[in-house]
Amino acid sequence: MGCFIVLEGPDGTGKSTLLRGIQRELEQTNLKVKYFREPGGCRLGEKIRALLLDPELEMAPATEALLFAANRSENYAQLKKDLRDYDLVIADRFLLSSLAYQGEGLGLGMDRVLQINDFALQGYRPDMHLLLLLDVEEGLKRKKKQKVLDRLERRKEEFHRKVTEGYLKLEKSGKYNIEIIDAGRAPEEILDHCMKVIGRFIPANHEEEIL
Ligand code: TYD
Repeated sequence: MGCFIVLEGPDGTGKSTLLRGIQRELEQTNLKVKYFREPGGCRLGEKIRALLLDPELEMAPATEALLFAANRSENYAQLKKDLRDYDLVIADRFLLSSLAYQGEGLGLGMDRVLQINDFALQGYRPDMHLLLLLDVEEGLKRKKKQKVLDRLERRKEEFHRKVTEGYLKLEKSGKYNIEIIDAGRAPEEILDHCMKVIGRFIPANHEEEIL
């Protein structure tokens, strides 16, 4: 069975850059690796993503949480198969995003959001989370530099503050395997830290390739 590792973090913490770095590093190994993103990740998921990010659409918080959970249900069905075929599956966001953004950020409550996700995931949990965290103000500054913001990025600073608090609560709860990555450091240092963590989850016969 392969391992499932998830990249998480508030907006503007450099997740996309990190993901490209991880991809580059893993391409140099013989590991079979699959990547997917949320929202999105499959044909149905990409359609749900378009609904979720559409700046013209308004939706109730519960609808939003259910759409993310529906997307995740579809990805989980695929993930179960992929973990048999791949050494590693890496996701750009998963369950903890919903707990932090919809649970804490939108105020739906992490427990309630967990319930609908547990229906989608049948209680399944990823093997590891790499959680990029940055000073909230710095993250918002970085995000504002982007020209076109989608529906979810337009939310107020207060929302994004709560999201970071949500992630911190999840880490403190000790219920999820979370490694906090300091997103304020140089990109090479961040990548190095993440590759060390990923190295702990790859099959023993591939360890030399990565370390
Ligand atoms: P995306 O463009 O993929 O941004 P990022 O590069 O930051 O991941 O948009 C994803 C947005 O969706 C992001 O603002 C986080 C949000 N999101 C949730 O609110 N709940 C979720 O469950 C997931 C997976 C994402």
